[in-house]
Amino acid sequence: MGVEEKTGLARRKPFYGYYALGRFHIITLLWTALGILIAAFLWRPAGVAILCFGAYMYLTYWLGMYLSRQSESYDLSWILDLQGDEYVLDVGCGLGKVTIGVAKLLKEGKVVGIDIWDRLDIANASTQRAYRNAEIEGVRDRVEFQTGDVLDIPFPDDTFDLVTSGGVLLAFWSDEVRLKALSEIHRVLRPGGRFLLMETLRNLGTLILSPGMAWKFLTRRQCISLLERAGFVNLRSGFRDIMGYFLVEKPLSSNHPAGRQPTGGSGGSAEGNNEHH
Ligand SMILES: C[S@@+](CC[C@H](N)C(=O)[O-])C[C@H]1O[C@@H](n2cnc3c(N)ncnc32)[C@H](O)[C@@H]1O
Repeated sequence: MGVEEKTGLARRKPFYGYYALGRFHIITLLWTALGILIAAFLWRPAGVAILCFGAYMYLTYWLGMYLSRQSESYDLSWILDLQGDEYVLDVGCGLGKVTIGVAKLLKEGKVVGIDIWDRLDIANASTQRAYRNAEIEGVRDRVEFQTGDVLDIPFPDDTFDLVTSGGVLLAFWSDEVRLKALSEIHRVLRPGGRFLLMETLRNLGTLILSPGMAWKFLTRRQCISLLERAGFVNLRSGFRDIMGYFLVEKPLSSNHPAGRQPTGGSGGSAEGNNEHH
């Protein structure tokens, strides 16, 4: 048996991982134990209701993963108009679903994906598995995967033309930490460079379809407020497949130090610009 077969990497289709599956299994186990204990020792109908809700969370998790098509990279051509020679950073790249989506829009440019490879976020995530996906998708020469923390990005100031981030801010527990991540992204972008934030949003639909996870998603308003406070301008936003897309710019002359409210400048504030649905 070859190394690829042993490690399960011999798939012909890319696979971008099941998100937070480790955490989801822990929550499901605790929830089931709670339901059984309550049904056995306290009040049977309440225990049964808890178990039914657990089963609903379990089914909707797998439905969500099925609908998010984890064997396809993102099609970003509708929101990113690239020249093809950009130098791009994808933070929290995981197995490359966003990284490879951007690489497909490049001709000579390059995308660097960084991640801390949190195994509870994506089981068995590694640079090798991300490279394997890039190979299958035919963009191996345009990507590079490295270990790196978005809270302390291992690149100098003003380096990238574009930074992307898919589903990373929801990993953090407070706006303070989210702002730290956004200020790092702002720092490594060149003036005039762009940032594409992609987050699954909390709204009625995701509360019903994904009750086990939606409490942790950000709202659209929260995303816009965080981007403004980090000093980004010129917002274009859109909504697709339960994901919010927020494309913003780092001002050419940075009057808006990250972490402060913008006072209005060359590009205006992040809020209230073009909407694409
Ligand atoms: C929900 S996954 C999304 C992965 C990928 N962007 C995608 O869309 O498939 C979130 C990713 O963020 C990574 N992550 C969490 N905290 C991070 C940090 N501080 N720095 C870099 N990556 C981080 C996790 O390891 C995980 O791979």
